[in-house]
Amino acid sequence: MTRVSQITTDVARAATLLKNGAIVAIPTETVYGLAALVHQEAAVMRIYSVKGRPTHHPLIVHVAKDFDLDKWGIFSSTARLLASEFWPGPLTLLVKRTAHVPDWVTGGRDTVAVRVPQHPMCQELLGLIPDALVAPSANRFGRVSPTTAQHVLSDLGSDVDLILDGGPCDIGVESTIVDCTQDLLQILRPGAITAMDIFTLTGRTLSDAVGESRAPGMMLSHYAPTAKVELYESQDEAAIRSSQLNEMGTSYQHLYFEDVNEYALRLYDELRMADINGVKIVLAVLPEPTRIGIALRDRLKKASHRQA
Ligand code: TXA
Ligand code: MG
Repeated sequence: MTRVSQITTDVARAATLLKNGAIVAIPTETVYGLAALVHQEAAVMRIYSVKGRPTHHPLIVHVAKDFDLDKWGIFSSTARLLASEFWPGPLTLLVKRTAHVPDWVTGGRDTVAVRVPQHPMCQELLGLIPDALVAPSANRFGRVSPTTAQHVLSDLGSDVDLILDGGPCDIGVESTIVDCTQDLLQILRPGAITAMDIFTLTGRTLSDAVGESRAPGMMLSHYAPTAKVELYESQDEAAIRSSQLNEMGTSYQHLYFEDVNEYALRLYDELRMADINGVKIVLAVLPEPTRIGIALRDRLKKASHRQA
């Protein structure tokens, strides 16, 4: 398969390939995912190997919007409420799994992460397959998530069988993950749906993620470009640093958008551009910790911790 024919908008072709055990990059409203049918063990194992991701890091199960909740997990009344309000959308619910969910998806855990994506092309695809799809972000392990088909192509190239092009992602950062397995809800990964949104709906306060292995893969250094990412609380602080860097002759790039949604949309592309432009340092000004700004601060902090 040549690189040119690898990118397509043909959803039926993607569905046929997936049913035959291929791995296909798919658009979602958050970021692009690298998909395989949940019950195709060899294809799921290929995803781990292409990503370079440890096999005990569990995957999110993506399901069609009319799916049967009870088939995949044990959903509490609160989990059902969250599902009915926010699905399809950028929310992943962690629940106890059923026997229908294979070990190779959950890393042998007794829980499963489930999400109903909103992207129309992704929903159309899910409607054409007899199973659900696992879909981790379509990037190499520890690197920046892709928000366009072109990002996937430049990262994973011919290691994936097909890339379904649904245009740039609407949100730009990964889904919020909420652990619903215990009485106290916990946010394991912040995203576009915030603790405040969940409190407003359920009247329940949430705790922050605690413990090391709540969501394996949520390590400190993640979402990292090769350039060093420095964080600043204000534009003024970043300006002081940029004059120092000018004096030293060190290459750098600014990262800030006034509009927090635009910041989310552009974040990963800007981090990629820093590497493409070969700059040494990204001077990132943190957004206010409200709405999706909370998720942006989380990703920027992870991007600022360099890989070992
Ligand atoms: O927005 C998203 O969620 C994207 C798009 C493609 O849907 N997907 C995504 O998948 O971000 P991934 O694999 O890059 O991140 C999923 C996170 C990982 O940190 C994983 O450890 C956690 O979800 N996770 C999945 N299943 C879990 C489980 N059973 N228990 C704890 N954490 C789990
Ligand atoms: Mg990821």
